[in-house]
Amino acid sequence: MNINTLESPQEVAVSFASDLQHWIESSPAPSFSIALSGGSTPKILFKHWASGDCQMFKNVNFFWGDERCVPPDHEESNYGVTNDLFFRPASISPNNVHRIHGEADPVAESIRYSKVLQQNVELENGSPQFDVVILGMGTDGHTASIFPNQMELMESESICAVATHPETGQRRVTLTGNTIGNAKKIVFLVTGSSKKEKFAAIRNRSPESELWPATRFMHMDNTFINIDEAVVR
Ligand code: 6PG
Repeated sequence: MNINTLESPQEVAVSFASDLQHWIESSPAPSFSIALSGGSTPKILFKHWASGDCQMFKNVNFFWGDERCVPPDHEESNYGVTNDLFFRPASISPNNVHRIHGEADPVAESIRYSKVLQQNVELENGSPQFDVVILGMGTDGHTASIFPNQMELMESESICAVATHPETGQRRVTLTGNTIGNAKKIVFLVTGSSKKEKFAAIRNRSPESELWPATRFMHMDNTFINIDEAVVR
């Protein structure tokens, strides 16, 4: 596992931002695709991005790994959070932003967004290949919106699928496991002591950890895991 342990969530965001800048600047392609995630650490990342020089994002296209089925101005909208903290303050062109329509019917939206990805992300083996997919990990081992009780989404042949949060019942549109796994690079941002137990089990390859969606991606060679000390202390 490629694990980078930083002092604090802020340092996790700053360290990843620096890696990303290097990857964007050394990419030979004219454009660069990133799938963003929801969750707490990306909020720090978005603020950090907005506070710096945003020239590096000129040719970057932004997508999402998952979205909650709520309107874009809802406080739980992953797009809404990113817009408030990053796109608007950094004046990112709307042409570079490809959001999941959380306000639409989830099944229809998962089909529409699959087409958006096929048309706007480079294809590899007929499937969209993001330059970078950013992921978090929930305390139940979920990632994007693939939850442990919906492991079939890991193997689904669809590009996107509809998921249901196991506790709240909230519907989500998510990339499937195969789409995430097809990315050139996968980056985890995981912070806080609540992730300690799951992370240790994944690291030790405990049999139980095979039941969690985050596990497979964490063990991939092209995955970079950025954690803060609270996760391993
Ligand atoms: C979402 C996510 C989700 C998230 C994890 C970790 O929209 O909720 O994309 O997979 O990344 O739940 O969230 P935290 O960073 O808040 O722990």
